[in-house]
Amino acid sequence: MRKLLMSLLLACTSLLCTSGMAQNMAPANDELYKVFGEKNGITQLMDDFVNRLLKDARIGTHFKDAKPAGLKAQLTEQICQLTGGPCTYKGADMKSAHAAMDINKGDFNALVENLQSSMEARGIPFTQQNRLLALLAPMHRDVITLH
Ligand code: HEM
Repeated sequence: MRKLLMSLLLACTSLLCTSGMAQNMAPANDELYKVFGEKNGITQLMDDFVNRLLKDARIGTHFKDAKPAGLKAQLTEQICQLTGGPCTYKGADMKSAHAAMDINKGDFNALVENLQSSMEARGIPFTQQNRLLALLAPMHRDVITLH
């Protein structure tokens, strides 16, 4: 099931996904933001998520020089904004942030799996998990540079 979902997300070639919605897809309301427990819930989710990334044998090396506290903070702002919350992500755009990192599809899938595990651990319902993943999926075009 997970594999299927991930393939669907990555193979996402529908109009919706090709219209660059990652940039201008902010939800019309803050419903999803509330589902994720607002700023506090997202902060805790990103804390757990980044901790999992650092420990993941598949992609942990990508994060060897990372500053976990800063990354958690940036991700929190990004997800807060993306889910319709009152935040403004001021970090680098996804293309610049991941340039020269040689990230491939497998790396991206591994990151998504960790996010799914974190959401599962926090009891986020499956359909709501997928709403966030659908918002993140289009970013694969900017993040994956190794084909
Ligand atoms: C949808 C997928 C992804 C999102 C939303 C995302 C988001 C972010 C954000 C917001 C930052 C901080 C940028 C800044 O500080 O200006 C960042 C940095 C970074 N990302 Fe990603 N990322 C994604 C995928 C990946 C993947 C697949 C990898 C590698 C396996 C990765 C590795 C990194 C690394 C190493 C940094 C730098 C961290 C640091 O220097 O502290 N990212 N990412």
